[in-house]
Amino acid sequence: MSDSSDGIAGIPHPNPLRRLTLDQLRRRTSVKWREYPEDVLPLWVAEMDVTLAEPVVRAVTDALALGDTGYPHGTGYAEALSGFAHRRWGWDGLAVARTKAVPDVMTGIVELMRLLTGPGDAVVVNSPVYPPFYPFLGDLDRRVVEAPLGPEGRLDLDAIEDAFHRETAGGRRTALLLCNPQNPTGTVHTAEELTAVAALADRYGARVVADEIHAPLTAPDATFVPYLSVPGGENGFSLMSASKGWNLAGLKAALAIAGPAAAADLARLPGEVVDGPSHLCVIAHTTALREGVDWLDALLAGLDENRRLLTKLLAERLPAVRYRPSQATYLAWLDCRDLGLGDDPAAAFLERGRVALNGGLPFGTGGAGHVRLNLATSPEILTEAVDRMATG
Ligand SMILES: Cc1ncc(COP(=O)(O)O)c(C=O)c1O
Repeated sequence: MSDSSDGIAGIPHPNPLRRLTLDQLRRRTSVKWREYPEDVLPLWVAEMDVTLAEPVVRAVTDALALGDTGYPHGTGYAEALSGFAHRRWGWDGLAVARTKAVPDVMTGIVELMRLLTGPGDAVVVNSPVYPPFYPFLGDLDRRVVEAPLGPEGRLDLDAIEDAFHRETAGGRRTALLLCNPQNPTGTVHTAEELTAVAALADRYGARVVADEIHAPLTAPDATFVPYLSVPGGENGFSLMSASKGWNLAGLKAALAIAGPAAAADLARLPGEVVDGPSHLCVIAHTTALREGVDWLDALLAGLDENRRLLTKLLAERLPAVRYRPSQATYLAWLDCRDLGLGDDPAAAFLERGRVALNGGLPFGTGGAGHVRLNLATSPEILTEAVDRMATG
């Protein structure tokens, strides 16, 4: 297989966000398109309105045609991610031997937290953050302790230290579940911030698990820094996957990656978790990382256009909404507190405009009065969404 071979030589790859019509999208049967009635325009859950990278389609279709639907073998997924990490982020520290394939990122997080902490122990999160962190950790009998992001949407190191200080008192085990890049704000944590987090974790004996599922979706003018690449990050973990970057959530697979000082912990992951993803999903993810880079770059350019379009549309139609274009992810975190729509403006947008966004409340402290809008759609649908939000 060759790298980045999904474009025709010399011709820019088409923007995958502009290839499907609304009628085609409405034929989809995934949750984004089926949760709400037909008159609702859905820009909520993290699925993209894209056509897939052609090499991925080909690899999966070829496997089906061949009946290559047995069990997965080998470390191809980890090797592909390691190569991608080297080329994309200049990171050479992703050692294939310190990875395990897991069914998906959330399962990886839960199983790592089960190893690193005990029942009743705290897991610190930086709210507002991906809502399932709360119930998944709660079901594991861990206490979710918030160290909210600061006013600029950046990690608040004092709040993290306070939480570590409090939660490790009496010798309790504590972990930090980082989200890098951050869902929903799209913040990309800097090397300095991550190094400071690692130093705090070391000082208090807390362990760090970084959910880096959105890393491939870092904008061209921002720099993603893997947590495991910073000094002091050696006993941390990262969860990575091609699922968000290439819209493969329906083909679940992920990798748990241990820092050099965490390899023994990784080896304790139970057998039913490792080797969890199916062969077909591993084929899809591996191909995306190896051959889907032109597609990804075209997507990122399209997302940048959409961020600029959203900025313009909001200025024209809803100037009271505050929006800071994100450095990563395809999510826009909109501060609607000046609209007078209360804590859950998504409910008002759904009712009066028939547009589905994620309400901010489930994202924890900092979420009230906000909505999360999914930008991974065509400019036409994005325009229609803002029109609908401005209705009434
Ligand atoms: C930050 C974050 N983590 C995890 C997930 C879910 O990943 P998976 O389906 O691999 O469990 C998402 C999905 O949007 C996410 O945004």
